Amino acid sequence: MSEPLVLGIETSCDETGVGIVRGNNLLADEVASSVSEHARFGGVVPEVASRAHLESIIPTIERACQNAGVKLADVDALAVTAGPGLAGALLVGVASAKALAVGLNKPIYGVNHLAAHVCVDQLEHGYLTQPSVALLVSGGHSSLLLVPDVSGEITPLGQTIDDAAGEAFDKVARVLGLPFPGGPYIDAAAQEGNPLAIDFPRGLTMPKDMLKHRFDVSFSGLKTAVARWVELETQKGNAIMVNDVAASFQEAVVDVLLRKAIDACLTNQVGTLVIGGGVAANSRLRKVAQERCAEHKIELRIPRPDLCTDNGAMVAALGSELMRKGRLPSNIDFGTDSSMDIRKVSQG
Ligand code: KG4
Ligand code: ZN
Repeated sequence: MSEPLVLGIETSCDETGVGIVRGNNLLADEVASSVSEHARFGGVVPEVASRAHLESIIPTIERACQNAGVKLADVDALAVTAGPGLAGALLVGVASAKALAVGLNKPIYGVNHLAAHVCVDQLEHGYLTQPSVALLVSGGHSSLLLVPDVSGEITPLGQTIDDAAGEAFDKVARVLGLPFPGGPYIDAAAQEGNPLAIDFPRGLTMPKDMLKHRFDVSFSGLKTAVARWVELETQKGNAIMVNDVAASFQEAVVDVLLRKAIDACLTNQVGTLVIGGGVAANSRLRKVAQERCAEHKIELRIPRPDLCTDNGAMVAALGSELMRKGRLPSNIDFGTDSSMDIRKVSQG
């Protein structure tokens, strides 16, 4: 018997994503982004995002079915991001997925966006090694997780105590006059810059931090240091070397994230590190992760860049994994949860 066909819907932020998988095979991954509508505000405007989801959701579902060469009636189960995310944006995806589940009379899984960012790697590299350590770095979250089983057992080891990694990229980009979202622009500018030009601070890496914040990260001090540096140089009448600042800032973020992630693997005697979330698309993070994991004989798994940023395939991948593990679907009356805890992989 062939594996079940799962359609996944993601609307937690500004991407309307619809993915279709059969088992670990990705058949379609369609994304409609409203990012250009938010750019002039320098951040995602929740109401604008919700309205854009409403407009995009049906055409995106249709495109995904077309590209996968399947009919809605062929779908065996629905999966949808139930949280965390923007409340109004989540509602559009959940209401749409529920309508499909009722109309098609199929089970539905209301899943955790963060667990989906980890699970998506299965579409590219096969079943996750159990246990793995996951480094999740996105615009809204930065967490280190111990993942014995992505379908039901995830333990947080640490997280950001202030800004998320992606948020730091976006804010520093703004200081440097680069467009929103800043991550890809800093990544590109840094390719032309010197990462050793400025020695920016590495938050929570001092011996005194190891007791309470060993696996936590902090980017607020770094962000302030960059802003202060730019301000002082401007006052001195010096031109800002955007590429050098971008490269040096990026180096500080990458260094801290990987120091913590490798420490988490070694301390917990886990041989696999999975990196996910939008910031995992960063080219320097991918390169340094490869070097440091090789040095410590840790298996490294990072999905290709378009599977790192928000998409529907990751939601479908987690739905498919929940089915494979025989987990019960969600009750049709499950709610959205804008601050859904990572320990909860799906809604009951
Ligand atoms: O996972 P994601 O698509 O959405 C959230 O769930 O937040 O992550 C978006 C974040 C943004 O902050 C964006 O600037 C960052 O990921 N990002 C990057 C890169 N591509 C996207 N950050 C650094 N380098 C990149 N290449
Ligand atoms: Zn995300």
